[in-house]
Amino acid sequence: MKIQTSHTKLSALKADVAVVFFYEDEEAFTTQKQAIIAEFTSAEAVLSSGDFKGKRKTGTFIYTGSKALPRLLLVGIGKHADLTLEHLRRAAAYSAKNAASVKAESIALPIVSLSESSTSDIAQATIEGAILSQYKFDKYLTESKTEKKRIEKITLYTEDKTLIAGAKAGAEFAHILCEGVNLTRDLANAPNNEIYPETLAKRAEAAGKEAGFDVNVLNKKKIESLKMGGLLAVNQGSVRPPVFIVMEYNGGKKHDKPVVLVGKGVTFDTGGISIKPGAGMDQMKMDMHGSASVIGAMYAIAKAKLPMNVVGLVPSTENVISGNAYLPGDIITFMNGKTAEIDNTDAEGRLILADALTYADKYKPQAVVDLATLTGACVVALGNVTSGMMGTDDALKARLKAASIRTSEYVCELPLYEEYEDLIKSDVADVKNSGGRGAGAITAALFLKKFIGDYPWAHLDIAGTGMASKETDYNPKGGTGVAVRLLVDMIRNW
Ligand code: BES
Ligand code: MN
Ligand code: ZN
Repeated sequence: MKIQTSHTKLSALKADVAVVFFYEDEEAFTTQKQAIIAEFTSAEAVLSSGDFKGKRKTGTFIYTGSKALPRLLLVGIGKHADLTLEHLRRAAAYSAKNAASVKAESIALPIVSLSESSTSDIAQATIEGAILSQYKFDKYLTESKTEKKRIEKITLYTEDKTLIAGAKAGAEFAHILCEGVNLTRDLANAPNNEIYPETLAKRAEAAGKEAGFDVNVLNKKKIESLKMGGLLAVNQGSVRPPVFIVMEYNGGKKHDKPVVLVGKGVTFDTGGISIKPGAGMDQMKMDMHGSASVIGAMYAIAKAKLPMNVVGLVPSTENVISGNAYLPGDIITFMNGKTAEIDNTDAEGRLILADALTYADKYKPQAVVDLATLTGACVVALGNVTSGMMGTDDALKARLKAASIRTSEYVCELPLYEEYEDLIKSDVADVKNSGGRGAGAITAALFLKKFIGDYPWAHLDIAGTGMASKETDYNPKGGTGVAVRLLVDMIRNW
């Protein structure tokens, strides 16, 4: 995809579709209407009919008769006073999808003004919405390949020359960011016969090579010598060996302590011996979305050369069944020497994360954030819209919350009151890996909390936000790429 900015009048643009955002407010609408009609008489009929009123998620094509600019697409963005960056993302997504539906290869999008936001942020949001809306996981569709047409070029246009520098910066950042998000989506959507621990590691290595971060893959032997008992227990039933992926990006000063991102990398979760129901089990190919988000975020952080040291850690295995599989009642010993009773082999994510949280301590990190498709309970609580946030450190949670508001990748805090800990007490080990039905997202996080080192920690449960059963504005069905924009924004504003 080519992204560019252009200082030009609408009528001088060259594109298959040029988008014009219309405000719903009467006065603004009338001014815009008159300006468009003055340049394009063909717009008169539609705009005078009153059918198009500038409401969000509405739009109309105008055919101009010009070869250089055959179509305008007028798109409503609602009332001026209500407009936010998120509305811009959605309006850009709506525009790009409609442009794609008429097989446009090049589109032009306007740079609007928004009093509270910089031009760079406005351009970034607009480009994010447009690029992210075009994602399709179609690499395995062999039949329709020949007629596939994509938007290949997006031009941000404005008549105000003073906006160009900011728009360029925002658009460039968005482009990198969306490559990270789409990498995450590709990894999440890939089936288990494409992405299993060793191939996940290969893809992390490729991302590191391209974006500029170091990747070191610990193999099963090394994992054994580190005594990562959680990762090894979950891996027991699998013929594919586990990996522990270590990614290091040094954009900061040499002795700056890093921020560590940890991602659950269960490349398929059958539930193990506590097997899941068959219906919908295919979704569990995405149970490595946390790791995919970490890899995508590392990619964007490194490619954008953000001035921070950031480490990504991914424990990865399948959770499958065989005569070797770990069993309910097993007692396992983790890297830090703690023990857990296995109550349910389907509560596997916390087991592999436990060892990763221990491993993270060796960096003496400024903060650790882990991401995991961890519990169905979190999906019940917050649906597909909001990730569950839990943690020990108010300042870190505030950073995530602020990034959440800026990116509209929503997080909501759930409490870690110690009273909940009774639910994961075991008679025979330090802790039990499942706490029953109530407060499932919280007991999972409290389990993790037992394994953190001496660092500020937050956990994001992305079970609902990572996997979508239907397409929304700029997110596709399937792996959403959630939390890449959130994490990159947090690091960028650190
Ligand atoms: N990967 C699942 C969580 C999940 C469920 C993600 C639905 C996305 C959609 C996780 O490993 C799991 O199975 N959790 C169990 C824990 C329980 C056994 C304590 C759950 O949520 O049911
Ligand atoms: Mn599970
Ligand atoms: Zn799982």
